[in-house]
Amino acid sequence: MTGIYFSGTGNTKFCVDTFLKEYGYSTNSFSIEDNETLGRIENENEIVIGYPVQYSNIPKIVKDYIIYNRHIWKGKSIFIIATMGLFSGDGAGILARLLKNYGAIIVGGLHLKMPDSICDEKALKRSFEENKKIVMKAEEKICKSVCNIKNGKPPQEGLGIVYHFAGLFGQRLYFFGKPKNIRTN
Ligand SMILES: Cc1cc2nc3c(=O)[nH]c(=O)nc-3n(C[C@H](O)[C@H](O)[C@H](O)COP(=O)(O)O)c2cc1C
Repeated sequence: MTGIYFSGTGNTKFCVDTFLKEYGYSTNSFSIEDNETLGRIENENEIVIGYPVQYSNIPKIVKDYIIYNRHIWKGKSIFIIATMGLFSGDGAGILARLLKNYGAIIVGGLHLKMPDSICDEKALKRSFEENKKIVMKAEEKICKSVCNIKNGKPPQEGLGIVYHFAGLFGQRLYFFGKPKNIRTN
């Protein structure tokens, strides 16, 4: 299994690496911003892909990467990890729907709450101790999920019609038309 990710401040890379380690693979993860990553994907059938939810959506860089390289996803088994600061209806589902268009097999999805990476959103500010607890909870959730995957029951968070509606009506419509100029650390 190979892990690929986009990670603005490191949360998502940490989650993908923890997932791989828990699975028994060495931390075998690659950023989609690295040139060599495409070759790694081409030579691998099982992939875990991680990204942070941004404005209740997948980051544009991830969407562009998937679409630009649309020919490489066919027949790949893909598990999706979406990290977020608060909540996402269908964070994993958005990418799942896109990848299915290009012939990928979606094995499952996992939503992980992590420290927030937006600097200027007061409501999301937490203390160091609070953030430590959030990371520990995410680690526990990853361990449980890997155990379930090994037992043939991969989590399906963010996938399916109920999550899709939650993402669309509970989240994305809120951001519709709003300027997206939040500063990040
Ligand atoms: C521009 C931007 C938009 C974001 N939008 C959301 C959002 O809509 N919902 C949410 O729960 N978190 C949101 N976040 C928080 C990130 O998803 C979260 O902190 C994530 O774990 C960051 O991962 P990274 O360090 O790998 O980039 C946003 C972060 C940024 C920078």
